[in-house]
Amino acid sequence: MKKVLTLVVGILLTFQVQAQSKNVEKNTQPRVIILATGGTIAGAGESSTKAAYTAGQIGVENLVNAVPQMKNFAQVKGEQIAQIGSQDMNIETWLKLSNRINEIFEKNEADGVVITHGTDTQEETAYFLELTVKSDKPVVLVGAMRPATAMSQDGNRNLLDAVMVASSPNSKGVGVVTAMNEAVFAARDVTKTVTTNMATFQSRNFGPIGLIYDGKVSYYYKTLRSPEQKFDIKGLKTLPEVEVVYGYADANPRAVKAATKDGVAGIVYAGMGNGNFNAPVGEALEAASKQGIIVCRAARAGAGRVTLFNEVDDQALGFIVSDDLSPQKARILLMLALTQTKDRQAIQDMFFKY
Ligand code: SIN
Repeated sequence: MKKVLTLVVGILLTFQVQAQSKNVEKNTQPRVIILATGGTIAGAGESSTKAAYTAGQIGVENLVNAVPQMKNFAQVKGEQIAQIGSQDMNIETWLKLSNRINEIFEKNEADGVVITHGTDTQEETAYFLELTVKSDKPVVLVGAMRPATAMSQDGNRNLLDAVMVASSPNSKGVGVVTAMNEAVFAARDVTKTVTTNMATFQSRNFGPIGLIYDGKVSYYYKTLRSPEQKFDIKGLKTLPEVEVVYGYADANPRAVKAATKDGVAGIVYAGMGNGNFNAPVGEALEAASKQGIIVCRAARAGAGRVTLFNEVDDQALGFIVSDDLSPQKARILLMLALTQTKDRQAIQDMFFKY
């Protein structure tokens, strides 16, 4: 009897050891945390074929459950950070997101992070994170152009691809990226180019840095403009205010004057051509600059660079230029730069470096 008992215990122990070693095997899969913020990827409409829907309706648990294939790549956990359309994205949520991602990597809670996000302002969140996340582990933003309830929705496929990108060892050190519609773009370069089409994300100056296909990501380029020293946002509750003002033929300077009167710390002027403005706007911008507001010339053109001293005497007016950053991204860099310094040259150097 004793012998039989010993035999049974022996067999059970063997099974336990085997089960444990299987678990250890499972745990070698990369760990990916999905931080959900809302957007069309979590959107729901009443009809699968009509366009009307509301963004940010579906919680992270349902997003994760809808794509069980993610388990082929990673151990996935979800957290709800916000549940909004990205037109309502704000500095408070950016700070929350960035602090949480830094905490995840500091505490080694994951090997990669995926952020589900509306596409409208995804490029801005991506660039904010590029400038503030202090890790070379993958941070991947993803969204969808069709809501989760739509026929041929793109969200599930995009999410699967994003988790694959975040768990790929090749993604280490490429910086914060967006992964959508089979392409990977660097955060500083990506922009939404079409209001409703699935191929909306593009980098007009440089193209995608990687391509996704058949469960694999292949990288071709890497940005050289990722700051080595990231901005420290720990403890910040908000950022210095920077206004974006849009240029057009026969523009009235009232928007620049209003921003100046409101006491903003910076103005990004989305100028015509190479960041140009008409005479009345120029006078208003010069007055703002003389009051200590940092004036940054950017371009509404959508591609190319804004260069110093072309048609504008930036030195005399005290202006800086955005280089190739879009006006909305120039605002983000200027807000963060102003947390460190008000020195124009130092800020201009950041625009040429980051
Ligand atoms: C949004 O940005 O939240 C709405 C649009 C989208 O996600 O595509």
